[in-house]
Amino acid sequence: MAPIAAQDRLTALRDLLARAEAHALTFLESLDSRPVMPRRSMDDLRASLGGPVPPDGEDAGRVIDLIGREGHLASMASAGPRFFGFVIGGSLPVALAADWLTSAWDQNTGLYVAAPAASVMEETAARWLVDLFGLPTQSSVGFVTGGQMANFTCLAAGRHEVLRKAGWDVEARGLIGAPATNVVVSAEAHATIFAALRLLGLGVPPDSHRVPTDTQGRMDPDALEALLAQLPPGPTVVCAQAGNVNTGAFDPLAAIAAACERRGAWLHVDGAFGLWAAAAASLRSLVDGVALADSWAVDAHKWLNVPYDCGVAICRHPAAHRASMTVNAAYLVPGDGDARDGLDWVPEFSRRARGIAAYAAIRSLGRSGVEDLIEHSCRLARRFASRLATQDGIRVLNDVVLNQVLVRFDGDDAARGDARTRAVVSAVQKDGTAWLSGTTWHDMAAMRISVSNWSTTERDVDRTLESILSAAQQH
Ligand SMILES: Cc1ncc(COP(=O)(O)O)c(C=O)c1O
Repeated sequence: MAPIAAQDRLTALRDLLARAEAHALTFLESLDSRPVMPRRSMDDLRASLGGPVPPDGEDAGRVIDLIGREGHLASMASAGPRFFGFVIGGSLPVALAADWLTSAWDQNTGLYVAAPAASVMEETAARWLVDLFGLPTQSSVGFVTGGQMANFTCLAAGRHEVLRKAGWDVEARGLIGAPATNVVVSAEAHATIFAALRLLGLGVPPDSHRVPTDTQGRMDPDALEALLAQLPPGPTVVCAQAGNVNTGAFDPLAAIAAACERRGAWLHVDGAFGLWAAAAASLRSLVDGVALADSWAVDAHKWLNVPYDCGVAICRHPAAHRASMTVNAAYLVPGDGDARDGLDWVPEFSRRARGIAAYAAIRSLGRSGVEDLIEHSCRLARRFASRLATQDGIRVLNDVVLNQVLVRFDGDDAARGDARTRAVVSAVQKDGTAWLSGTTWHDMAAMRISVSNWSTTERDVDRTLESILSAAQQH
C-alpha cells in the first residue's frame, strides 16, 4: 500500500463513518414502514455479496455502500416495533450510540490496564445489575455473548464449587476420576442449559433427572424434593428457570431454593429474559426466592434492549466464579488493587467491551425507566392475549404472566388445528406487517408472541392483531 498522509486518512475515516451513519439511519428510519420479513432471496444475496476473494481489494467507501445497501434490503426488521419472534429485544438509541463508541475505542476488556474506562463502566454496570435484580451485593458478574454463555459460565462456577466441597479441584484435575456430580434440570429447561452441561463435561441429564412441570411449564418442587432425596449422596447442581421461553412461566424459586439448601445443592437460575421481572415492582413476586440461588444467567440483549451481543453471568460466590474462569500468563499485566480484569469472570480472554452498552442503557433509563420498559412489554402482551382470547376458534394457551403469549388456532381435530396454526403463522410472516413464529406446546402447534422491544406501541399491537385475525379468517 502506498503511504497515506495523516490528513487524508482522517478525511477517509470521516467519509466512511458518515456513509455508515447514513446507511444506519436509512435502515432505522424505515423500521416502522418496511415489511418486517426481508423480501430478498438467498440467491440474490449470494449473487451480490458472495464470490471469490477480491484479488486487489475494493474501494472502502464502495464496500460500506454495498454492505449498507444489502444489509438494508435483507435484514429482518427485528430492531423494529412489530417483531415478536423468539425473544429478541431491539436497541435503545442510547445503547446503539454507546455501542458505536465501543467499536471506535476498540478496547480489549480482558485486562483493566488495556481498557481502563471500559473496565470501570462494566464494573459499574455489573453493580447496577445486581442491585436492580435484588441479588446479594457481593455477587460477581461476567459480560458474555448471551444467555448460552451465561449459563455455561454460571454452571462452570457451580461445577467448581460442588466438586471443591467434595475435595476435588476440577480446574486442575479435570473430570476423569472426579466424584460423580448429580445434575438435575426441569423438564422444560432451555436448550442452552443442555449445551452448557455438554461443554462442561457433565453430560445431558437422563430423563430420570428431569423434574416434571405443570401446565405452564413450572417445575414441580415436590417432585424435585423427592428426586433429590433419591439421588446418591455427592455433589449436586440444580438448574431452575425464571421465564419459560414459550409461556414466560417461572419455576417456584423459593421452594426450589429451600430444597437445594436442604440437599446442599448448587442452584442455578436461567433467567435469560425472566430475571428482568425482578427489576419491576408489579412483577417481582414472580421471582420470589430468586436471591437465594447461587448463580443467575440473564441477557441484556433481550430485555434491556442493547445491541447484540450482551449476556450476563452473575454468581453469589465470587471465589468459585473466578476460579472457574481466570487464566494467567507471564506477559499479562493484572490491574492494581481491586481493579477489575474482565478475563477473570468470562470464558473469553480478549473481548469486546460489550458491557458499555448495558451501562449506557441503565444510566439513561434509571431504575424507573428499566421498570417501565419491562412493564410496558407485559402490558402489550396482555393486550394481545385479551383480544385474541375473545375470538371464536382462537385460544390463548398460557397464563400471560410476562411478555409471552402462546396462541392456538383450532381446527375440527388436533391435526387440523396444528395445520391451521402453522398456516396462520406463515401467513402473518408473509404479510409483512409483523413477524412472529411458532412452536409446539404440549403436543400442539402454537403461535408464539414475544413482546420485548422498547419501541412497540399499542398501535403496533393492534396492527399486528389485524394481520393475525385476517390470516385466521383465511385459514
Ligand atoms: C430461557 C432462556 N435461556 C437461554 C436462552 C439463550 O439465550 P441467548 O440466545 O442469548 O444465548 C434463551 C433464549 O431465548 C432463553 O429464552
